[in-house]
Amino acid sequence: MLSHAVSSPTVPPSLRDLFAIDPGVIFLNHGSFGACPREVLEAQWQWQLEMERNPVEFLGRRSADLLFRARTALATELGARPENLVFIPNSTTGVNVVAQSLTLEPGDEVLATNLEYGACDATWQRVCEKQGAHYRHVTIPLPFESHGVVERIMAAVTPRTRLIFASHITSTTALILPVAELCAAARARGILTLIDGAHAPGQIPLSLDSIGADFYVGNCHKWLCAPKGSGFLVAAADQQDRLDASVISWGYAEHSGGHSGFDAYLGNTAFERKMQWQGTRDLSAWLAVPDAIEFLKRHGWSEVRRRCHQLASQALKEIAGQHGLSPIARDNDWAQMVAIPVPATDPELLRQRLFNEHRIEIPVTTHADAVFVRLSVQGYNTEEDISRLVEALV
Ligand SMILES: Cc1ncc(COP(=O)(O)O)c(C=O)c1O
Repeated sequence: MLSHAVSSPTVPPSLRDLFAIDPGVIFLNHGSFGACPREVLEAQWQWQLEMERNPVEFLGRRSADLLFRARTALATELGARPENLVFIPNSTTGVNVVAQSLTLEPGDEVLATNLEYGACDATWQRVCEKQGAHYRHVTIPLPFESHGVVERIMAAVTPRTRLIFASHITSTTALILPVAELCAAARARGILTLIDGAHAPGQIPLSLDSIGADFYVGNCHKWLCAPKGSGFLVAAADQQDRLDASVISWGYAEHSGGHSGFDAYLGNTAFERKMQWQGTRDLSAWLAVPDAIEFLKRHGWSEVRRRCHQLASQALKEIAGQHGLSPIARDNDWAQMVAIPVPATDPELLRQRLFNEHRIEIPVTTHADAVFVRLSVQGYNTEEDISRLVEALV
């Protein structure tokens, strides 16, 4: 048990049973790929069965409407306009769509923080390299001070800065960046913004229209608990023309869909037409997104999030405190995921020890010479899970 008293210790045991997590594993890594409740998976399977009853009817004639309904439910949840939101498989794809659509001149630059996700750093590095542009990182010092972030990034802007790329919640360090303020400051300087919200939907309340990014990508398969492969891209209306889909398909054809009468190829706007149809693929993960949203609502997820944050906060204090290490941020700088500093010298060895000896699935991350266990606490986690982690680490 945790040595600090937990003010609301009762975890509804039923919540754990609603997920398919292996009971033999203490699963504290929701952050990497999420976890999907059984009933949301069942909703996805129902869509797959429905498709197979008549694939032509489903994909060719019904999918545009079905996708629009799912997009509307998601956009409503995220505070965005459905016509500005399209489904994509994941955030990495979204970052690629934007990066590969941006025309850069030699000497132009894309600015990001040094807290970005490695695969997206690689995307920007490659895209910039190919066009003779530069991808530059602004160092965000730790311990983290949210109020200094925008000023620091904007101070690094030059006349050649074309776009600012930043995570809403960072990967290895789990910090919430002040993206609304960043987008406003960039807009005032005429610089485009792309926000990587891979971890944000479902973990923190979102109003994407108020954030005001030119482009915002995110995942539903992480904290919204939707099936794997359910990502989205929101593009401001005045920026949609510049985007190309990663797969050029019917939406680009002059009489898209006309010859076959397939509505799916059409879409209502040019943006929808370009992005929606990318060849035959399984739409079921996206169609089950409204079920995931409904699941979280039905199970009182605001309270679940509060409880998870509290458990994570206690774990942070116990583990870091035992080792005499200071947290890298205040409690309100992170949500259900927290980077807990540990004195390990070999991160991979620690990860293996936690899994092999304690059956604890948790990533061990590094940043600027520091090592962290990145703890994710989700609704299915119990106080006992957290106690086991604390015991294994102190
Ligand atoms: C900040 C951030 N961006 C992007 C991603 C990539 O997500 P996906 O693999 O779903 O594209 C991750 C994955 O953990 C992430 O942490």
